[in-house]
Amino acid sequence: MKAKRMSDLQLAGKRVLIREDLNVPIRDGQVTDDTRVRAAAASIRQAMDAGARVLVMSHLGRPKEGEYDPDASMAPVARRLGEILGCEVPVARDWIDGVDVPEGGVVLCENVRFQPGETRDDEDLSRRMAAICDVFVMDAFGTAHRAQASTHGVARFAPEACAGPLLTAELEALSKALDEPSRPMIAIVGGSKVSGKVQVLEALTHKVDQLIVGGGIANTFIAAAGYSVGKSLYEADFVETARRLMDEARAKGGEIPIPEDVVTARELAADAEARVHPVNAVPEDEMILDVGPQTRARYDGMLRNAGTVVWNGPVGVFEMAPFAEGTRALADAIGASAGFSIAGGGDTLAAVEQFGVTDRISYISTGGGAFLEFLEGRELPGVAALERHKAAES
Ligand code: 3PG
Repeated sequence: MKAKRMSDLQLAGKRVLIREDLNVPIRDGQVTDDTRVRAAAASIRQAMDAGARVLVMSHLGRPKEGEYDPDASMAPVARRLGEILGCEVPVARDWIDGVDVPEGGVVLCENVRFQPGETRDDEDLSRRMAAICDVFVMDAFGTAHRAQASTHGVARFAPEACAGPLLTAELEALSKALDEPSRPMIAIVGGSKVSGKVQVLEALTHKVDQLIVGGGIANTFIAAAGYSVGKSLYEADFVETARRLMDEARAKGGEIPIPEDVVTARELAADAEARVHPVNAVPEDEMILDVGPQTRARYDGMLRNAGTVVWNGPVGVFEMAPFAEGTRALADAIGASAGFSIAGGGDTLAAVEQFGVTDRISYISTGGGAFLEFLEGRELPGVAALERHKAAES
């Protein structure tokens, strides 16, 4: 990484402004998935232990800018963060002109997206953020693909700007998987639409040995291979793209395997009657909702022997028992593989959790959109700003 790291800097007594991604689901005032809060807490703890005066900022949801909205308040996140850190974490509603924080203490700024100018990377707002700190720490990997005042602009004007421990770990894990992969390298890309993931499919086709596609994306590839997908969700406009990607993968000695058998049903319901069919015999009035047993066995063999696995997206409707087995098989095989594995994205992490393999995946990313953009090979503005800051110093 061409940016400074937080661990390189002397933080004692300094005003340290840390941008985290604490954008987490909240129901009835409670954080329902605290993965991001736990990951951020480790970085925050490190700065507190170093004697810094820590001010943490994050967005939560997409509130209307310039207005306080109690439904998008950071208060529930502060409570959870406080439980993890073992200390009270006050929320500062008016923080943009600075907050007094004791050495080794922490304060959480109210939702950064309440500030006018945040999402358009406003220069004045960025300067004001920079003015309230001695060191800006960008640690929000999950928001590093956004060029906003708190992820990007502030780094231009802060006296010091560096990458936090979480951002550093994320970039190292992803670089390890993508830049120097042990072979064979396998990527799994699931999701409903090819159109939403064309760039990541393009990038991975050229990088990996095998690319397993799942969900609605797989249906478009099945159609591209010339089979009927019945009533399944698929994108006719992207059949040609899918065909080209399969050809390109083959031309470089790789493969985008399509399922040999699939699990279908007449309707998408947890109590629907699920049936297994060979991929060339999907009934016209049924839809594909998972992969079948032969395909599961094939994926299992591939994944157990993989040197590197990158996983984004399930292969079936795993939330419903009749269609969960394909994704369960992936989770079990990746968990059992000795290769380096990395998983990212909301659905993927829910599956990893559901099938109990969290501790057996080498690295669990906190990024959704940022994870995908990194896989696409795109520059993350939140990281580029730190690199420019360092380059400007030397
Ligand atoms: C995410 O959850 O993907 C990040 O927190 C970014 O949120 P955003 O899409 O609202 O910018």
